[in-house]
Amino acid sequence: MPQSSSSSSNFINEYSLPQVHNNQTSVASKMTIRERKRIGEGAFGTVVEALLKYDEPKDNNIIQINGNSSSPCEWLGPFAIKRVPAQTEYKSRELEILRVVNHPNIVSLRFFFDKTSSNDNKIYQNLVMECLPSNLQNEIKYYRQSKYTIPYPHMKAYTFQLVRAMLYLHGFGISHRDIKPSNILIDPLTVRLKICDFGSAKKLELNQPSVSYICSRYYRAPELIIGCSLYTTKIDIWGLGCVIAEMFLGKPIFQGQFPETQLKEIAKLLGPPPNTFFFNNNPQYRGNMYTTKLFTCSIKERFEQIFSNSPQDAIDLLMKILVYDPELRASPRRVLIHPFFNELKSKNFKVYPRGSSESIELNLFNFSDFELELLGSFKNELKIT
Ligand SMILES: Nc1ncnc2c1ncn2[C@@H]1O[C@H](COP(=O)(O)OP(=O)(O)O)[C@@H](O)[C@H]1O
Ligand SMILES: [Mg+2]
Repeated sequence: MPQSSSSSSNFINEYSLPQVHNNQTSVASKMTIRERKRIGEGAFGTVVEALLKYDEPKDNNIIQINGNSSSPCEWLGPFAIKRVPAQTEYKSRELEILRVVNHPNIVSLRFFFDKTSSNDNKIYQNLVMECLPSNLQNEIKYYRQSKYTIPYPHMKAYTFQLVRAMLYLHGFGISHRDIKPSNILIDPLTVRLKICDFGSAKKLELNQPSVSYICSRYYRAPELIIGCSLYTTKIDIWGLGCVIAEMFLGKPIFQGQFPETQLKEIAKLLGPPPNTFFFNNNPQYRGNMYTTKLFTCSIKERFEQIFSNSPQDAIDLLMKILVYDPELRASPRRVLIHPFFNELKSKNFKVYPRGSSESIELNLFNFSDFELELLGSFKNELKIT
């Protein structure tokens, strides 16, 4: 039986469990979990920062943390534990997806276990992940409060890593389906980025419908808004465009007051959706099509008005991503070779982490064989010069 001890000043809860699964070795062991503080609260779960310790020393319990082997009986971590109800009518594929993915820009799962809550006697699934100090929502807010934006070199480095994660996920056919700044973890001191929250993620199969009420309102692709059920991983690329726009503007770009008016916000930037858009994505759509033009200038001029303080290469990139037709919307590899990222390819490229006068180098081009395969001929344009 799990034992809970009373809270003390430096932790909120401590308990031992007979079966904690190590995701690297697939071995289940008896471990003690010391929860230190609550770090996140989302729609479905609670996230706490915690340390873990093997209760019984065993050779196969020796695991690698940051490249160093660590002996049993030592506290490991800190980790982030996400706790969600194990049985709900809503099917979460988070554990199954996190178990198979392995990428520097996707949060890694270290352990997992089920535990019955003493509060409500329900079973909760616990995912023990590597812990990052912040997320992109906090970072955008931090700079907005001082009337700045995230520095451009950082924005480029973050965006590049986000797109790399998408290239990898989409290579498996997996769509994240909830891309937004709070689901993008970052470490401002190392300028590292990792996607988290795979609670909505799904492997999309050709011609197999999926629910269209997915993604958070401001980040929903136009085809989802009109109820398309045969969508593709391009819905994540729309989310990517919204995230890039938000880094430049300091606030979400399409803030629909109601689900029905979300499309209007998009039409204020992109103009009326083409008729083929409704026909191709949901011929049964009966909502407002926003066919009247809400501005008089060209779409390019409209982008330049809204992103008046942003560099031209960023505007060009956004115009290739924020496109109604999912088939014409840029793919991850197209995004990766966009000139917006040219600066990153320079041998002399360095970033200064927030508040630091010492620059660091980022190893952003360490593509795996799988990524190189996905890049195909595009890889020739992703060389450091
Ligand atoms: N591995 C992690 N490291 C640090 N913070 C995390 C981690 N995972 C989640 N969080 C924080 O907890 C919040 C909620 O987690 P998330 O997985 O997005 O749950 P939900 O499905 O409830 O939105 C995130 O926005 C983030 O701030
Ligand atoms: Mg979330």
